[in-house]
Amino acid sequence: MASSDYGFMIGIMMTIFLASFVSADPELLQDVCVADLNSGVKLNGFACKSNISADDFFFAGLAKPGLTNNTFGATVTPASVQQITGLNTLGVSMARVDYAPGGINPPHTHPRATEIVFVLEGELDVGFITTDNKLFSKTIKKGEIFTFPRGLIHFQINNGKVPAAAIAAFNSQLPGTQRVANALFASSPTVDDVVLTKAFQVGTKEVEKIKAKFAPKK
Ligand SMILES: *[C@@H]1O[C@H](CO)[C@@H](O)[C@H](O)[C@H]1NC(C)=O
Ligand SMILES: *[C@@H]1O[C@H](CO)[C@@H](O)[C@H](O)[C@H]1NC(C)=O
Repeated sequence: MASSDYGFMIGIMMTIFLASFVSADPELLQDVCVADLNSGVKLNGFACKSNISADDFFFAGLAKPGLTNNTFGATVTPASVQQITGLNTLGVSMARVDYAPGGINPPHTHPRATEIVFVLEGELDVGFITTDNKLFSKTIKKGEIFTFPRGLIHFQINNGKVPAAAIAAFNSQLPGTQRVANALFASSPTVDDVVLTKAFQVGTKEVEKIKAKFAPKK
């Protein structure tokens, strides 16, 4: 093979590599593919439905603040493919988060997306932790933006005296959310106490106490 052929091959391989890893969701194969959430067909994403309209690309659910009278004093209103079926295969979605004073969006990850947040109102203390356990944190206020890299544990807390709100954008139609505490202490079936006592270096009592707090309210 001539050396220019090797260059070409390497170029092709680089392109395939970048195409596979740069974008979070796969490339689309047609203009639109509005999700048929009721279809029994299982594939990477949702099956396309045929009779579509502008409403399939519309959602008014982020216009108003979500209720924050819950345990964490914050609520996430998603605008993913499950709310906007037209997002299927498009590789983007949004969410709105509202925080009471003291409210927290507790540590969690989005396995399929990088997140970028824009503060609508108030002020937030935000941060993410890298795989070498380095914390990157900052206070951000109205009009400012912060980024949470794909898959890394992150959080936001409203340490201010007034409510706060943020809009989040994701490079996935369905970023997925895994809350650290819920995953470990409220899974179904539950993670054995011995795993958690050893992992967190505490006693069974402490583990049971946390599990009880996260148990679904009957
Ligand atoms: C397509 O959808 C519209 C409204 O969503 C409905 O009025 C119409 O009957 C549908 N057409 C077909 C062929 O299903
Ligand atoms: C939160 O407030 C709403 C409206 O004020 C009320 O309907 C709901 O029951 C409250 N939820 C809790 C958990 O207190």
